[in-house]
Amino acid sequence: MASGFDPSEYGRHIAEVYDELHADLSPDAAVAMIAHYAAGDAVLEFGIGTGRIALPLVATGHQVDGVDGSAEMVERLRRSREGASLRVEIGDFTTTTMDRRYAVVVLAYNTINALPSQDAQVQTFRNAAAHLEPSGVFLVENWVPDVAAFHRGRVVRAHEHAAGRVQIEVAELHPAEQRMSATRLAFTADGVRLLPVNHRYVWPAELDLMARLAGLHLEDRWQDWDRAPFTDQSTTYVAVYRKDT
Ligand SMILES: C[S@@+](CC[C@H](N)C(=O)[O-])C[C@H]1O[C@@H](n2cnc3c(N)ncnc32)[C@H](O)[C@@H]1O
Repeated sequence: MASGFDPSEYGRHIAEVYDELHADLSPDAAVAMIAHYAAGDAVLEFGIGTGRIALPLVATGHQVDGVDGSAEMVERLRRSREGASLRVEIGDFTTTTMDRRYAVVVLAYNTINALPSQDAQVQTFRNAAAHLEPSGVFLVENWVPDVAAFHRGRVVRAHEHAAGRVQIEVAELHPAEQRMSATRLAFTADGVRLLPVNHRYVWPAELDLMARLAGLHLEDRWQDWDRAPFTDQSTTYVAVYRKDT
């Protein structure tokens, strides 16, 4: 793993405003797909965060455990009655272990890119596989790298333009290491907040190979949690990796 990597860093910068910034992002389709694969059995979420997906998933009657590197994000999760009773370990999901297995392990919302290196991403697949019951599935939500959007290695893009809130991202690409360093600028009436976003971006087929190294195989790749077909135009995907039998 790259030296100096700190899995708690992201949450330290964003925990206070995470739920507000993602208020428009409905978890419904993700919850429906995860519940479909879990079929009543238990789920483990790597990077459970503030519980954006986990809490509505618990409401469907599923046991949801979690791992997260950020005590600040988990403190937010703990504020709700349902969140207070969830089993969540504070730690790095590349290595943290739980003492049971699950029907589904989930890594949502592009969080695979938060890892600093290909080795750490491979190790995450291995850790997910180690937590799966026989024939369990690892669900990974990610974006397709869009290197064509960058001009001379840089891009400025508007992520949100809503009443009282604007989000702009300034991003720089480092193709040799497949890294993108970016700063998200969130403008509200209270001022400007700078949120660092550091990604080791990864290609869909590269994830498929990581899965094979970990004893999993690609069963499906959808464009999104609603199961739209994944096509040449897709900019996002949800991959379903099933444990080899
Ligand atoms: C983008 S947020 C996603 C939170 C939640 N899954 C959601 O969909 O809203 C990523 C989360 O992963 C956590 N995280 C990132 N890298 C991690 C690592 N290596 N180990 C544990 N948690 C990590 C962050 O602290 C943060 O809570």
